[in-house]
Amino acid sequence: MEILIRDIPEEGAQVAAKLFKKILSTRPQPVIGLATGGTPLRLYRELIRMHQSGELSFKDCTSFNLDEYVGLPPEDERSYHHYMRSNLFDQVDIDPSRIHLPDGCAGDLRQACRDYEEKIKEFGGIDLQVLGIGANGHIGFNEPTGSLASRTWVKILSEQTIKDNAIYFDDPEEVPRHVVTMGIATVMETRHCLLLANGAKKADAVRRMIEGPVSASCPASILQMHKRVTIVLDEEAAYLLTFKDHYKWVEGNKLDWQKYD
Ligand code: GLP
Repeated sequence: MEILIRDIPEEGAQVAAKLFKKILSTRPQPVIGLATGGTPLRLYRELIRMHQSGELSFKDCTSFNLDEYVGLPPEDERSYHHYMRSNLFDQVDIDPSRIHLPDGCAGDLRQACRDYEEKIKEFGGIDLQVLGIGANGHIGFNEPTGSLASRTWVKILSEQTIKDNAIYFDDPEEVPRHVVTMGIATVMETRHCLLLANGAKKADAVRRMIEGPVSASCPASILQMHKRVTIVLDEEAAYLLTFKDHYKWVEGNKLDWQKYD
C-alpha cells in the first residue's frame, strides 16, 4: 500500500487530484470509479478547478459509481445520482451517456446488480477507483462481516452507518436501510484504488485497514491484498498508525517517476 500523509485535507485533495490526472493522461479512454460522502468533495473541487483551467478533460472518460440508496430516485436531492451531478458531473465535460450509477429504484434489483457488473466488464474494468472509508471500516456500502468475495449487490446498512449518514437527511428515520453497492470483489478487480480519509473519527478504521489483520470485520483491510492502492490521509486520520514515520520515510525517498507532486 502506498500511504501519503499530509498536514491538512486540502493538501491531500491536491495530491489525489494529481494522481487522478496522471492516470487519466495515460489512458485513451479511462474508466473511473467514483465515491460519494463528504470526503471526496475536496478532490472533486480540485478536479473541477483543473478542468476549468484546461489541465484536465473528462470527455473520453467513462464513470461507474460505487453505490446508491434503494428507493431514492435520481432527482431526489439525497440520492448519490444528485450528489454526483451537483458536485462533479455538471461542472466538467463528461459525456452523460458514459455515466453509470447503480439504480436503487430498479424493479428487479438483483438483475440490476448483475447488469451493473456486466457493464463494468463491457468497458474493460475500472482503471482508477476513488474510495472513502466508513468509521466502521466499510468501503462502498460493504459493512463489517459481509463477504469479502461479494459482487454488486443489495445490502442492509448497519445502525452505525445509518446514524453517520443521518446528517444528510432531515430525520434519521428517512435514511434508507437498503442500498445497492459494488461488492468487495468488484473493488478488488479495479486496477488502482485511491482511498481518502480525514479526521480523527476515521483514525481507528484507518489503523485497522492498513495495519490490522485482513478481516471481514474491517472490510477495507482487504485492500492490503490489492495490487495497487494509494491511501491519502491527513495527520488526524493517520495518528494511530504505528508505522507512520516509515510511510513518510518511503514517500520522502521516492524516485521522480513515482511521485505525483
Ligand atoms: C458512505 C458511502 C461511502 C463513504 C463513507 C464515508 O456511507 N457509501 O462510500 O466512503 O460513507 O463517508 P464520509 O466521507 O462522508 O465520511
